[in-house]
Amino acid sequence: MSAAEATERSEPSGGGGGGEIAYVSYGGEHHLPLVMSLVDEELSEPYSIFTYRYFVYLWPQLTFLAFDPKDGKCVGTVVCKMGEHRGAFRGYIAMLVVLKPYRGRGIATELVTRSIRVMMESGCEEVTLEAEVTNRGALALYGRLGFIRAKRLYRYYLNGVDAFRLKLLFPRPDPGMHPMMMLGNERDDQHMDSPYL
Ligand SMILES: CC(C)(COP(=O)(O)OP(=O)(O)OC[C@H]1O[C@@H](n2cnc3c(N)ncnc32)[C@H](O)[C@@H]1OP(=O)(O)O)[C@@H](O)C(=O)NCCC(=O)NCCS
Repeated sequence: MSAAEATERSEPSGGGGGGEIAYVSYGGEHHLPLVMSLVDEELSEPYSIFTYRYFVYLWPQLTFLAFDPKDGKCVGTVVCKMGEHRGAFRGYIAMLVVLKPYRGRGIATELVTRSIRVMMESGCEEVTLEAEVTNRGALALYGRLGFIRAKRLYRYYLNGVDAFRLKLLFPRPDPGMHPMMMLGNERDDQHMDSPYL
């Protein structure tokens, strides 16, 4: 993608540090090498091209890329899926990466929030992912977004490190309450604070 193309959908990154970042959802085969090189560079798990294709072909609306409009460089990506799992419709965040010089500006937060918003609009009841127990940055980021540590998975990764399974549960509407009655009460205030609405 050219810098001009990226700038078309440019929006503030939402973080400090200045500069605008352009966010786009997966747009086709030309985005695939960008996603792959970012993930291969930064994540400990090796993935085959079939794994990438599985995600981006089936759920293109859940993969987002972040571009620096100055030079058109792809600086971050999130890759996800959703589907039935043990009776629940569930979103899953498979990969999240932001290039080092661009970290701490809210780019990962924006990428993840966009995916979660689509999951929520698609009827997901929860979102899960795994993160290395040593990955303080990712654990802090997801903690801020409301994820809880649901389980510890022993030696989950090929490098032998344990994982935390993190889970975000979406608030369900109270079936006994008329929607108008929700307005102004404590539950509704929490709802309004949700970064996904
Ligand atoms: C984890 C990662 C995606 C975060 O990207 P980022 O764009 O810097 O994240 P954000 O700027 O949106 O951070 C949001 C919040 O997460 C927390 N956070 C992010 N990185 C952190 C770090 N290294 N140490 C502590 N907290 C961190 C902070 O609370 C931060 O908010 P603050 O800047 O207001 O304090 C990035 O560090 C990365 O690509 N790491 C390598 C790949 C990886 O670990 N992916 C996650 C796999 S589960």
